[in-house]
Amino acid sequence: MVLVLKWFVATLLFLCEAQGFPKVVRVLNNLEFTDPKPEFKEKYFSQILDHFNYNSLGNGTYLQRYLITDQYWKKGGPIFFYTGNEGDIWAFALNSGFITELAEKEGALVIFAEHRYYGKSLPFGNDSFHIPEVGLLTVEQALADFAVLITELKKELNAQECPVIVFGGSYGGMLSVYMRLRYPNVVAGALAASAPILSTAGMGDPAQFFRDVTADFENYKPACREAVQEAFQKLQALAQQEDYARIQSEFSLCKTPSSAADIHQLSGLLRNAFTLMAMLDYPYKTSFMSSMPPFPVKVACDTMLRGDDLMTALRETVGIVYNSTGTLPCLDIYNLYIECADPTGCGLGFDSLAWDYQACTEIEMCFESNSVSDMFPPMPFTQKQREQYCAKKWAVVPRPGWLKTQFWGDALSTASNIIFSNGDLDPWANGGVRKSLSSSLIAINIPEGAHHLDLRGSNPADPDCVIQARKKESEIISQWVQMERKESRGLTL
Ligand SMILES: *[C@@H]1O[C@H](CO)[C@@H](O)[C@H](O)[C@H]1NC(C)=O
Ligand SMILES: *[C@@H]1O[C@H](CO)[C@@H](O)[C@H](O)[C@H]1NC(C)=O
Ligand SMILES: *[C@@H]1O[C@H](CO)[C@@H](O)[C@H](O)[C@H]1NC(C)=O
Repeated sequence: MVLVLKWFVATLLFLCEAQGFPKVVRVLNNLEFTDPKPEFKEKYFSQILDHFNYNSLGNGTYLQRYLITDQYWKKGGPIFFYTGNEGDIWAFALNSGFITELAEKEGALVIFAEHRYYGKSLPFGNDSFHIPEVGLLTVEQALADFAVLITELKKELNAQECPVIVFGGSYGGMLSVYMRLRYPNVVAGALAASAPILSTAGMGDPAQFFRDVTADFENYKPACREAVQEAFQKLQALAQQEDYARIQSEFSLCKTPSSAADIHQLSGLLRNAFTLMAMLDYPYKTSFMSSMPPFPVKVACDTMLRGDDLMTALRETVGIVYNSTGTLPCLDIYNLYIECADPTGCGLGFDSLAWDYQACTEIEMCFESNSVSDMFPPMPFTQKQREQYCAKKWAVVPRPGWLKTQFWGDALSTASNIIFSNGDLDPWANGGVRKSLSSSLIAINIPEGAHHLDLRGSNPADPDCVIQARKKESEIISQWVQMERKESRGLTL
Protein backbone atom coordinates (compact mmCIF):
# COMPACT_ATOMS: atom_id res chain seq x y z
CA MET A 1 0.00 0.00 0.00
CA VAL A 2 0.32 2.73 1.09
CA LEU A 3 2.40 2.42 1.91
CA VAL A 4 4.72 1.40 1.63
CA LEU A 5 8.27 1.59 1.71
CA LYS A 6 9.22 -0.54 -1.13
CA TRP A 7 12.62 -0.92 -2.62
CA PHE A 8 13.16 2.63 -1.48
CA VAL A 9 14.27 1.44 1.94
CA ALA A 10 17.03 -0.55 0.39
CA THR A 11 18.17 2.61 -1.37
CA LEU A 12 17.88 4.65 1.79
CA LEU A 13 19.84 2.18 3.84
CA PHE A 14 22.44 2.12 1.14
CA LEU A 15 22.70 5.91 1.23
CA CYS A 16 22.86 5.91 5.00
CA GLU A 17 25.66 3.43 5.09
CA ALA A 18 27.55 4.89 2.20
CA GLN A 19 27.57 8.56 3.10
CA GLY A 20 25.62 9.34 6.21
CA PHE A 21 22.05 10.46 5.90
CA PRO A 22 21.07 12.10 2.64
CA LYS A 23 21.89 15.75 2.72
CA VAL A 24 19.63 18.61 1.88
CA VAL A 25 19.43 18.79 -1.87
CA ARG A 26 18.20 22.08 -3.23
CA VAL A 27 19.12 22.14 -6.85
CA LEU A 28 16.30 24.32 -8.03
CA ASN A 29 17.14 24.36 -11.70
CA ASN A 30 16.41 20.69 -12.18
CA LEU A 31 13.86 20.63 -9.38
CA GLU A 32 15.63 18.02 -7.33
CA PHE A 33 14.44 18.62 -3.82
CA THR A 34 14.60 16.70 -0.59
CA ASP A 35 12.89 17.93 2.53
CA PRO A 36 15.47 19.62 4.75
CA LYS A 37 16.92 17.26 7.29
CA PRO A 38 16.21 18.38 10.82
CA GLU A 39 18.68 17.44 13.52
CA PHE A 40 17.00 14.27 14.72
CA LYS A 41 18.64 12.16 17.38
CA GLU A 42 18.05 8.45 16.98
CA LYS A 43 17.04 6.76 20.22
CA TYR A 44 15.61 3.49 21.52
CA PHE A 45 12.88 2.98 24.07
CA SER A 46 12.45 -0.16 26.15
CA GLN A 47 8.91 -1.02 25.12
CA ILE A 48 6.45 -3.61 26.49
CA LEU A 49 6.32 -6.63 24.18
CA ASP A 50 2.73 -7.57 24.83
CA HIS A 51 0.45 -4.85 26.16
CA PHE A 52 -2.59 -7.08 26.48
CA ASN A 53 -1.45 -10.32 28.09
CA TYR A 54 0.30 -10.15 31.45
CA ASN A 55 1.16 -13.84 31.52
CA SER A 56 2.57 -14.99 28.23
CA LEU A 57 5.56 -12.64 28.05
CA GLY A 58 5.20 -10.98 31.42
CA ASN A 59 7.14 -7.75 31.54
CA GLY A 60 9.27 -8.68 28.52
CA THR A 61 10.45 -5.77 26.41
CA TYR A 62 11.94 -4.92 23.02
CA LEU A 63 13.76 -1.84 21.76
CA GLN A 64 11.54 0.55 19.84
CA ARG A 65 13.37 3.14 17.75
CA TYR A 66 12.33 6.77 17.65
CA LEU A 67 13.75 10.03 16.34
CA ILE A 68 13.53 13.19 18.35
CA THR A 69 14.51 16.82 17.93
CA ASP A 70 14.10 19.66 20.38
CA GLN A 71 15.72 22.22 18.09
CA TYR A 72 12.44 24.18 17.77
CA TRP A 73 11.01 23.40 21.20
CA LYS A 74 10.10 26.33 23.36
CA LYS A 75 9.32 25.77 27.02
CA GLY A 76 5.78 24.44 27.34
CA GLY A 77 5.45 24.11 23.55
CA PRO A 78 3.43 21.26 22.04
CA ILE A 79 4.68 17.82 21.04
CA PHE A 80 4.30 16.80 17.40
CA PHE A 81 4.35 13.02 17.23
CA TYR A 82 4.49 11.06 13.97
CA THR A 83 2.80 7.67 14.28
CA GLY A 84 5.21 5.59 12.18
CA ASN A 85 3.87 3.27 9.56
CA GLU A 86 5.10 0.36 7.51
CA GLY A 87 8.74 1.13 7.01
CA ASP A 88 12.00 2.51 8.29
CA ILE A 89 11.15 5.61 10.35
CA TRP A 90 13.89 7.69 8.72
CA ALA A 91 12.06 7.48 5.39
CA PHE A 92 9.04 9.22 6.93
CA ALA A 93 11.11 11.73 8.88
CA LEU A 94 12.99 12.73 5.73
CA ASN A 95 9.82 13.14 3.67
CA SER A 96 7.53 15.01 6.08
CA GLY A 97 9.08 18.46 6.16
CA PHE A 98 5.73 20.11 6.86
CA ILE A 99 5.84 18.78 10.42
CA THR A 100 9.18 20.38 11.20
CA GLU A 101 8.21 23.61 9.42
CA LEU A 102 5.14 23.75 11.63
CA ALA A 103 7.21 22.85 14.69
CA GLU A 104 9.40 25.84 14.04
CA LYS A 105 6.33 28.06 13.97
CA GLU A 106 4.71 26.53 17.05
CA GLY A 107 7.84 25.94 19.12
CA ALA A 108 7.15 22.19 19.18
CA LEU A 109 9.14 19.13 20.16
CA VAL A 110 9.13 16.64 17.26
CA ILE A 111 9.14 12.85 17.61
CA PHE A 112 8.96 10.23 14.86
CA ALA A 113 8.24 6.81 16.36
CA GLU A 114 8.92 3.60 14.47
CA HIS A 115 6.13 1.02 14.19
CA ARG A 116 6.90 -2.34 15.79
CA TYR A 117 8.14 -5.01 13.31
CA TYR A 118 9.47 -2.38 10.86
CA GLY A 119 12.88 -0.85 10.35
CA LYS A 120 14.99 -1.54 13.41
CA SER A 121 12.09 -2.07 15.81
CA LEU A 122 12.01 -5.84 15.53
CA PRO A 123 10.65 -7.37 18.76
CA PHE A 124 12.34 -10.73 18.17
CA GLY A 125 15.22 -9.66 15.94
CA ASN A 126 15.48 -11.70 12.77
CA ASP A 127 13.04 -14.24 14.21
CA SER A 128 10.27 -11.63 14.27
CA PHE A 129 8.60 -13.07 11.17
CA HIS A 130 8.44 -16.60 12.42
CA ILE A 131 5.21 -18.10 13.71
CA PRO A 132 4.20 -17.46 16.48
CA GLU A 133 6.59 -14.50 17.07
CA VAL A 134 4.87 -12.47 14.35
CA GLY A 135 1.64 -12.63 16.38
CA LEU A 136 2.40 -9.46 18.34
CA LEU A 137 2.17 -7.43 15.14
CA THR A 138 -1.24 -5.81 15.46
CA VAL A 139 -2.60 -2.30 15.11
CA GLU A 140 -3.66 -2.36 18.76
CA GLN A 141 -0.16 -3.23 20.01
CA ALA A 142 1.34 -0.49 17.82
CA LEU A 143 -1.08 2.11 19.20
CA ALA A 144 -0.35 1.02 22.76
CA ASP A 145 3.38 1.38 22.00
CA PHE A 146 2.80 4.97 20.90
CA ALA A 147 0.62 5.78 23.93
CA VAL A 148 3.19 4.36 26.37
CA LEU A 149 6.08 6.05 24.57
CA ILE A 150 4.37 9.46 24.65
CA THR A 151 3.46 9.09 28.31
CA GLU A 152 6.95 8.01 29.37
CA LEU A 153 8.78 10.63 27.29
CA LYS A 154 6.57 13.37 28.72
CA LYS A 155 7.61 12.27 32.19
CA GLU A 156 11.26 12.00 31.26
CA LEU A 157 11.28 15.43 29.60
CA ASN A 158 9.18 17.06 32.26
CA ALA A 159 6.62 17.90 29.58
CA GLN A 160 3.43 16.63 31.21
CA GLU A 161 1.54 19.81 30.36
CA CYS A 162 2.51 19.88 26.70
CA PRO A 163 -0.35 19.14 24.28
CA VAL A 164 0.35 16.26 21.88
CA ILE A 165 -0.69 16.39 18.24
CA VAL A 166 -0.25 13.23 16.15
CA PHE A 167 0.61 13.19 12.46
CA GLY A 168 0.68 10.41 9.94
CA GLY A 169 0.52 9.69 6.23
CA SER A 170 -1.27 6.76 4.62
CA TYR A 171 -1.40 3.84 7.11
CA GLY A 172 0.42 6.22 9.47
CA GLY A 173 -2.55 8.57 9.05
CA MET A 174 -4.92 5.74 9.94
CA LEU A 175 -2.88 5.21 13.10
CA SER A 176 -3.14 8.93 13.91
CA VAL A 177 -6.92 8.71 13.64
CA TYR A 178 -7.00 5.61 15.82
CA MET A 179 -4.75 7.29 18.43
CA ARG A 180 -7.26 10.10 18.77
CA LEU A 181 -10.13 7.58 19.01
CA ARG A 182 -8.45 5.25 21.49
CA TYR A 183 -6.27 7.60 23.53
CA PRO A 184 -7.97 11.04 23.57
CA ASN A 185 -6.46 11.37 27.05
CA VAL A 186 -3.00 11.33 25.46
CA VAL A 187 -3.60 12.99 22.10
CA ALA A 188 -5.30 16.37 21.55
CA GLY A 189 -5.71 16.13 17.80
CA ALA A 190 -4.66 14.25 14.66
CA LEU A 191 -3.64 15.19 11.15
CA ALA A 192 -4.37 12.12 9.03
CA ALA A 193 -2.94 12.69 5.58
CA SER A 194 -4.12 10.36 2.81
CA ALA A 195 -5.45 7.82 5.30
CA PRO A 196 -7.65 5.23 3.58
CA ILE A 197 -9.52 4.40 6.76
CA LEU A 198 -12.69 3.28 5.00
CA SER A 199 -11.39 1.16 2.12
CA THR A 200 -8.93 -0.72 4.35
CA ALA A 201 -11.77 -1.54 6.74
CA GLY A 202 -13.63 -3.27 3.91
CA MET A 203 -15.95 -0.32 3.25
CA GLY A 204 -16.10 0.61 -0.38
CA ASP A 205 -15.89 -0.71 -3.87
CA PRO A 206 -13.15 -3.28 -4.64
CA ALA A 207 -12.75 -1.69 -8.09
CA GLN A 208 -12.19 1.84 -6.72
CA PHE A 209 -8.43 1.75 -6.29
CA PHE A 210 -7.35 0.69 -9.79
CA ARG A 211 -10.16 2.76 -11.33
CA ASP A 212 -8.67 5.82 -9.67
CA VAL A 213 -5.12 4.87 -10.72
CA THR A 214 -6.47 4.66 -14.29
CA ALA A 215 -8.26 8.01 -13.97
CA ASP A 216 -4.97 9.80 -13.29
CA PHE A 217 -3.55 8.63 -16.61
CA GLU A 218 -6.82 9.12 -18.47
CA ASN A 219 -7.24 12.65 -17.14
CA TYR A 220 -3.85 13.58 -18.46
CA LYS A 221 -4.72 12.11 -21.89
CA PRO A 222 -7.57 9.72 -22.73
CA ALA A 223 -5.29 8.15 -25.37
CA CYS A 224 -2.92 7.17 -22.58
CA ARG A 225 -5.47 4.90 -20.96
CA GLU A 226 -6.29 3.36 -24.34
CA ALA A 227 -2.63 2.72 -25.11
CA VAL A 228 -1.97 1.04 -21.76
CA GLN A 229 -5.08 -1.09 -22.04
CA GLU A 230 -4.17 -2.14 -25.58
CA ALA A 231 -0.61 -2.99 -24.58
CA PHE A 232 -1.90 -5.25 -21.81
CA GLN A 233 -4.30 -6.88 -24.26
CA LYS A 234 -1.41 -7.62 -26.62
CA LEU A 235 0.47 -9.20 -23.75
CA GLN A 236 -2.57 -11.31 -22.87
CA ALA A 237 -2.88 -12.44 -26.47
CA LEU A 238 0.76 -13.55 -26.57
CA ALA A 239 0.27 -15.33 -23.27
CA GLN A 240 -2.74 -17.16 -24.64
CA GLN A 241 -0.65 -18.35 -27.57
CA GLU A 242 2.06 -19.29 -25.07
CA ASP A 243 4.52 -17.25 -27.11
CA TYR A 244 6.74 -16.93 -24.07
CA ALA A 245 9.97 -16.25 -26.00
CA ARG A 246 8.37 -13.20 -27.60
CA ILE A 247 7.12 -11.96 -24.22
CA GLN A 248 10.59 -12.30 -22.79
CA SER A 249 12.15 -10.24 -25.58
CA GLU A 250 9.38 -7.59 -25.63
CA PHE A 251 9.77 -6.95 -21.89
CA SER A 252 13.50 -7.69 -21.53
CA LEU A 253 12.76 -10.35 -18.90
CA CYS A 254 15.74 -12.06 -17.29
CA LYS A 255 14.10 -15.48 -17.63
CA THR A 256 11.69 -16.87 -20.18
CA PRO A 257 8.25 -17.14 -18.58
CA SER A 258 6.80 -20.63 -18.74
CA SER A 259 3.40 -20.59 -17.10
CA ALA A 260 0.23 -18.65 -16.46
CA ALA A 261 1.62 -17.97 -12.97
CA ASP A 262 4.65 -16.21 -14.48
CA ILE A 263 2.38 -14.06 -16.66
CA HIS A 264 0.28 -13.21 -13.62
CA GLN A 265 3.46 -12.16 -11.80
CA LEU A 266 4.55 -10.04 -14.79
CA SER A 267 1.11 -8.38 -14.97
CA GLY A 268 1.28 -7.60 -11.24
CA LEU A 269 4.71 -6.04 -11.64
CA LEU A 270 3.60 -3.93 -14.61
CA ARG A 271 0.42 -2.80 -12.84
CA ASN A 272 2.43 -1.89 -9.75
CA ALA A 273 4.55 0.59 -11.72
CA PHE A 274 1.40 2.53 -12.65
CA THR A 275 0.16 2.36 -9.06
CA LEU A 276 3.39 3.92 -7.78
CA MET A 277 3.47 6.63 -10.44
CA ALA A 278 -0.12 7.60 -9.61
CA MET A 279 0.50 7.67 -5.85
CA LEU A 280 3.76 9.54 -6.18
CA ASP A 281 2.68 12.03 -8.85
CA TYR A 282 4.48 14.92 -7.21
CA PRO A 283 5.43 18.09 -9.13
CA TYR A 284 9.13 17.66 -8.42
CA LYS A 285 11.68 14.88 -8.35
CA THR A 286 11.39 12.66 -5.26
CA SER A 287 12.89 9.53 -3.79
CA PHE A 288 10.20 8.37 -1.40
CA MET A 289 9.27 4.69 -1.84
CA SER A 290 10.75 4.86 -5.31
CA SER A 291 12.83 7.25 -7.36
CA MET A 292 10.45 9.43 -9.38
CA PRO A 293 10.84 12.20 -11.95
CA PRO A 294 8.65 15.32 -11.56
CA PHE A 295 5.05 14.58 -12.72
CA PRO A 296 5.61 10.84 -13.32
CA VAL A 297 2.07 10.34 -14.72
CA LYS A 298 2.78 12.86 -17.45
CA VAL A 299 6.18 11.30 -18.15
CA ALA A 300 4.56 7.85 -18.28
CA CYS A 301 1.86 8.92 -20.71
CA ASP A 302 4.32 10.73 -22.96
CA THR A 303 6.41 7.56 -23.00
CA MET A 304 3.36 5.36 -23.65
CA LEU A 305 2.31 7.50 -26.62
CA ARG A 306 5.75 7.75 -28.18
CA GLY A 307 6.52 5.43 -31.13
CA ASP A 308 4.16 2.79 -32.53
CA ASP A 309 5.13 -0.36 -30.72
CA LEU A 310 2.86 -0.50 -27.69
CA MET A 311 4.69 -3.25 -25.87
CA THR A 312 8.02 -1.47 -26.24
CA ALA A 313 6.29 1.65 -24.94
CA LEU A 314 4.91 -0.31 -21.98
CA ARG A 315 8.37 -1.69 -21.17
CA GLU A 316 9.87 1.78 -21.30
CA THR A 317 7.04 3.21 -19.19
CA VAL A 318 7.47 0.73 -16.36
CA GLY A 319 11.20 1.38 -16.70
CA ILE A 320 10.53 4.85 -15.23
CA VAL A 321 9.95 2.99 -11.96
CA TYR A 322 12.10 -0.15 -12.12
CA ASN A 323 14.93 1.18 -14.24
CA SER A 324 15.23 4.74 -12.96
CA THR A 325 18.99 4.37 -12.85
CA GLY A 326 19.08 3.25 -16.50
CA THR A 327 21.36 0.39 -15.54
CA LEU A 328 18.93 -2.52 -15.23
CA PRO A 329 20.06 -5.18 -17.68
CA CYS A 330 16.79 -7.14 -17.55
CA LEU A 331 13.53 -7.33 -15.60
CA ASP A 332 13.65 -9.94 -12.86
CA ILE A 333 9.92 -10.28 -12.25
CA TYR A 334 10.12 -12.17 -8.96
CA ASN A 335 12.74 -9.88 -7.43
CA LEU A 336 11.44 -6.46 -8.40
CA TYR A 337 7.92 -7.14 -7.24
CA ILE A 338 6.52 -9.46 -4.58
CA GLU A 339 2.93 -10.54 -4.79
CA CYS A 340 1.26 -10.45 -1.38
CA ALA A 341 -2.03 -9.86 0.40
CA ASP A 342 -1.95 -6.21 -0.68
CA PRO A 343 -2.66 -5.92 -4.42
CA THR A 344 -1.12 -2.44 -4.39
CA GLY A 345 2.22 -3.93 -3.37
CA CYS A 346 4.02 -4.81 -0.14
CA GLY A 347 7.51 -3.58 -1.00
CA LEU A 348 10.59 -5.70 -0.51
CA GLY A 349 12.62 -7.09 2.37
CA PHE A 350 11.53 -7.56 6.00
CA ASP A 351 9.12 -4.62 5.79
CA SER A 352 7.21 -6.43 3.05
CA LEU A 353 6.76 -9.46 5.33
CA ALA A 354 5.37 -7.30 8.11
CA TRP A 355 2.96 -5.53 5.80
CA ASP A 356 1.87 -8.80 4.22
CA TYR A 357 1.04 -10.14 7.68
CA GLN A 358 -0.97 -7.03 8.50
CA ALA A 359 -2.82 -7.35 5.19
CA CYS A 360 -3.54 -10.96 6.15
CA THR A 361 -4.99 -10.06 9.53
CA GLU A 362 -6.62 -6.69 10.25
CA ILE A 363 -6.03 -4.50 7.18
CA GLU A 364 -8.36 -5.45 4.33
CA MET A 365 -7.33 -4.70 0.80
CA CYS A 366 -9.34 -6.90 -1.51
CA PHE A 367 -8.86 -4.59 -4.47
CA GLU A 368 -9.30 -5.87 -8.03
CA SER A 369 -8.56 -4.73 -11.52
CA ASN A 370 -11.01 -5.81 -14.19
CA SER A 371 -10.10 -4.14 -17.50
CA VAL A 372 -13.55 -2.51 -17.63
CA SER A 373 -13.46 0.23 -15.02
CA ASP A 374 -9.67 0.32 -15.26
CA MET A 375 -6.93 -0.16 -17.88
CA PHE A 376 -5.32 -3.24 -16.31
CA PRO A 377 -5.78 -6.96 -16.97
CA PRO A 378 -8.53 -8.61 -14.94
CA MET A 379 -6.87 -9.56 -11.65
CA PRO A 380 -9.45 -10.36 -8.99
CA PHE A 381 -8.49 -10.58 -5.31
CA THR A 382 -11.46 -11.81 -3.34
CA GLN A 383 -11.83 -12.49 0.39
CA LYS A 384 -11.70 -16.15 -0.52
CA GLN A 385 -8.37 -15.78 -2.34
CA ARG A 386 -7.07 -13.72 0.55
CA GLU A 387 -8.11 -16.40 3.02
CA GLN A 388 -6.39 -19.16 1.06
CA TYR A 389 -3.20 -17.16 0.61
CA CYS A 390 -3.02 -16.09 4.27
CA ALA A 391 -3.68 -19.56 5.65
CA LYS A 392 -0.84 -20.90 3.53
CA LYS A 393 1.60 -18.05 4.12
CA TRP A 394 0.98 -17.19 7.77
CA ALA A 395 -1.37 -19.82 9.15
CA VAL A 396 -3.94 -17.14 9.90
CA VAL A 397 -7.52 -16.54 8.86
CA PRO A 398 -8.28 -12.86 8.17
CA ARG A 399 -11.21 -11.38 10.09
CA PRO A 400 -13.10 -9.13 7.70
CA GLY A 401 -15.01 -6.47 9.58
CA TRP A 402 -12.79 -6.36 12.66
CA LEU A 403 -11.08 -3.05 11.82
CA LYS A 404 -14.48 -1.51 11.16
CA THR A 405 -15.81 -2.67 14.52
CA GLN A 406 -12.69 -1.74 16.44
CA PHE A 407 -12.19 1.72 14.97
CA TRP A 408 -15.73 2.99 14.49
CA GLY A 409 -16.14 2.26 10.77
CA ASP A 410 -18.12 4.99 9.08
CA ALA A 411 -19.66 6.17 12.38
CA LEU A 412 -16.88 8.61 13.18
CA SER A 413 -19.02 11.68 13.64
CA THR A 414 -18.86 11.64 17.45
CA ALA A 415 -15.05 11.76 17.40
CA SER A 416 -13.31 15.13 17.44
CA ASN A 417 -10.18 17.04 16.42
CA ILE A 418 -9.18 15.12 13.33
CA ILE A 419 -8.14 16.52 9.96
CA PHE A 420 -8.61 14.12 7.05
CA SER A 421 -6.56 15.46 4.16
CA ASN A 422 -6.55 13.85 0.74
CA GLY A 423 -5.17 14.62 -2.70
CA ASP A 424 -7.41 14.09 -5.70
CA LEU A 425 -4.55 12.50 -7.66
CA ASP A 426 -4.05 9.84 -5.02
CA PRO A 427 -5.75 6.49 -5.71
CA TRP A 428 -6.09 6.03 -1.93
CA ALA A 429 -8.08 9.25 -1.52
CA ASN A 430 -11.53 7.84 -2.21
CA GLY A 431 -10.94 5.16 0.41
CA GLY A 432 -10.78 7.89 3.03
CA VAL A 433 -12.97 10.61 4.51
CA ARG A 434 -13.65 13.25 1.85
CA LYS A 435 -16.33 15.36 3.55
CA SER A 436 -16.18 17.07 6.92
CA LEU A 437 -18.21 15.18 9.50
CA SER A 438 -18.49 17.96 12.08
CA SER A 439 -16.88 21.28 12.95
CA SER A 440 -13.86 19.43 14.38
CA LEU A 441 -13.69 16.52 11.93
CA ILE A 442 -12.45 18.37 8.95
CA ALA A 443 -11.87 17.07 5.44
CA ILE A 444 -9.36 18.97 3.35
CA ASN A 445 -9.20 18.02 -0.31
CA ILE A 446 -6.21 18.96 -2.40
CA PRO A 447 -7.13 18.91 -6.11
CA GLU A 448 -3.58 18.67 -7.47
CA GLY A 449 -2.19 16.61 -4.59
CA ALA A 450 -0.79 13.07 -4.77
CA HIS A 451 -0.24 10.75 -1.76
CA HIS A 452 0.15 12.97 1.32
CA LEU A 453 1.82 15.80 -0.59
CA ASP A 454 0.73 18.13 2.24
CA LEU A 455 3.08 16.38 4.70
CA ARG A 456 6.08 17.15 2.53
CA GLY A 457 8.11 20.30 3.10
CA SER A 458 7.41 23.46 1.11
CA ASN A 459 8.74 23.41 -2.42
CA PRO A 460 8.84 26.09 -5.12
CA ALA A 461 6.94 23.70 -7.41
CA ASP A 462 4.03 23.28 -4.95
CA PRO A 463 0.61 24.00 -6.48
CA ASP A 464 -1.34 26.72 -4.71
CA CYS A 465 -3.91 24.20 -3.42
CA VAL A 466 -1.35 22.42 -1.22
CA ILE A 467 -0.03 25.73 0.09
CA GLN A 468 -3.60 26.62 1.10
CA ALA A 469 -4.17 23.16 2.61
CA ARG A 470 -1.06 23.44 4.78
CA LYS A 471 -2.11 26.91 5.87
CA LYS A 472 -5.51 25.63 6.96
CA GLU A 473 -4.00 22.61 8.72
CA SER A 474 -1.57 24.88 10.51
CA GLU A 475 -4.40 27.15 11.73
CA ILE A 476 -6.51 24.26 12.99
CA ILE A 477 -3.59 22.62 14.78
CA SER A 478 -2.67 25.90 16.40
CA GLN A 479 -6.27 26.16 17.70
CA TRP A 480 -6.17 22.62 19.10
CA VAL A 481 -2.98 23.43 20.96
CA GLN A 482 -4.49 26.58 22.46
CA MET A 483 -7.72 24.78 23.36
CA GLU A 484 -5.86 21.95 25.08
CA ARG A 485 -3.81 24.46 27.08
CA LYS A 486 -6.98 26.22 28.28
CA GLU A 487 -8.60 22.92 29.22
CA SER A 488 -5.66 21.66 31.21
CA ARG A 489 -5.25 25.04 32.94
CA GLY A 490 -8.96 24.88 33.79
CA LEU A 491 -8.43 21.50 35.43
CA THR A 492 -5.39 22.42 37.47
CA LEU A 493 -6.80 25.70 38.79
C1 LIG B 1 9.99 -8.77 35.40
O1 LIG B 1 9.41 -8.75 36.69
C2 LIG B 1 10.07 -9.60 37.63
C3 LIG B 1 9.23 -9.61 38.91
O2 LIG B 1 9.06 -8.30 39.40
C4 LIG B 1 11.48 -9.09 37.84
O3 LIG B 1 12.17 -9.92 38.75
C5 LIG B 1 12.20 -9.08 36.51
O4 LIG B 1 13.48 -8.52 36.65
C6 LIG B 1 11.41 -8.28 35.49
N1 LIG B 1 12.04 -8.42 34.19
C7 LIG B 1 12.26 -7.39 33.40
C8 LIG B 1 12.87 -7.72 32.07
O5 LIG B 1 11.99 -6.25 33.69
C1 LIG C 1 19.31 -10.22 10.24
O1 LIG C 1 18.95 -10.11 8.89
C2 LIG C 1 19.61 -9.08 8.20
C3 LIG C 1 18.97 -8.92 6.83
O2 LIG C 1 18.75 -10.15 6.23
C4 LIG C 1 21.10 -9.37 8.18
O3 LIG C 1 21.77 -8.32 7.50
C5 LIG C 1 21.59 -9.47 9.61
O4 LIG C 1 22.95 -9.83 9.60
C6 LIG C 1 20.79 -10.48 10.40
N1 LIG C 1 21.18 -10.40 11.80
C7 LIG C 1 21.44 -11.47 12.52
C8 LIG C 1 21.79 -11.23 13.95
O5 LIG C 1 21.39 -12.59 12.07
C1 LIG D 1 17.24 0.27 -18.62
O1 LIG D 1 17.61 1.50 -19.20
C2 LIG D 1 18.73 1.44 -20.06
C3 LIG D 1 19.06 2.87 -20.50
O2 LIG D 1 17.96 3.48 -21.09
C4 LIG D 1 18.41 0.51 -21.23
O3 LIG D 1 19.53 0.41 -22.07
C5 LIG D 1 18.02 -0.85 -20.69
O4 LIG D 1 17.62 -1.69 -21.76
C6 LIG D 1 16.88 -0.71 -19.72
N1 LIG D 1 16.56 -2.01 -19.12
C7 LIG D 1 15.38 -2.62 -19.27
C8 LIG D 1 15.20 -3.91 -18.57
O5 LIG D 1 14.47 -2.16 -19.94
